Amino acid sequence: MKTCCTVMASLLLAAVFTLVSCSSATMKRVTNARLSSFDWKNCGKPDAPAVLSSLTISPDPISIPGDLTASASGSTTVALTAPLAVNVTLEKEVAGFWVKIPCVEELGSCNYENVCDLLDQVIPPGQDCPEPLHSYGLPCHCPFKSGTYSLPQSDFYLPYMDLPYWLTNGNYRVQGVLGEGGQELGCLKVALSIHSD
Ligand SMILES: *[C@@H]1O[C@H](CO)[C@@H](O)[C@H](O)[C@H]1NC(C)=O
Repeated sequence: MKTCCTVMASLLLAAVFTLVSCSSATMKRVTNARLSSFDWKNCGKPDAPAVLSSLTISPDPISIPGDLTASASGSTTVALTAPLAVNVTLEKEVAGFWVKIPCVEELGSCNYENVCDLLDQVIPPGQDCPEPLHSYGLPCHCPFKSGTYSLPQSDFYLPYMDLPYWLTNGNYRVQGVLGEGGQELGCLKVALSIHSD
């Protein structure tokens, strides 16, 4: 994966899956959930510097807990340096309409002013990047150099996790806009359906 994609994908996934390990009162333990109908597209301007060129996730549906296989590639024509902003908009389909889910405890439709800081909090600088990034020499901290980044097909295990209470069965779509100093660098839209018992 690349810079923007590493950053955006991890934030988008974090927004959906809540990799945040705080089990506050607003979280519930999910013992068996399925993610299906995964789809994605770039939503930036045609000349956006940061784009995702491929993202493949299987199987469909993905089980939580369970294994998934993912590969991704993308590129950025500019270096991505702190402070990097990401504005996330999370919507759920309700009776045929897309309803925006507000930002609650840093999850939902939230604006993150500096994802470089967030990355430093999740992955302490100086320590190896988590696998499979480390094996493929992919970076996990700002700044991300301009260039092409690709993550070959890799296996991940999704453990039991805590999800926010509002994350109920249904169709969701998430948009992430990456920006630096008021300038839009890239935009990614992801859609998926969640079903848990
Ligand atoms: C995020 O939203 C804020 C407030 O609307 C806006 O000022 C900022 O430019 C947006 N940033 C990005 C990257 O879209």
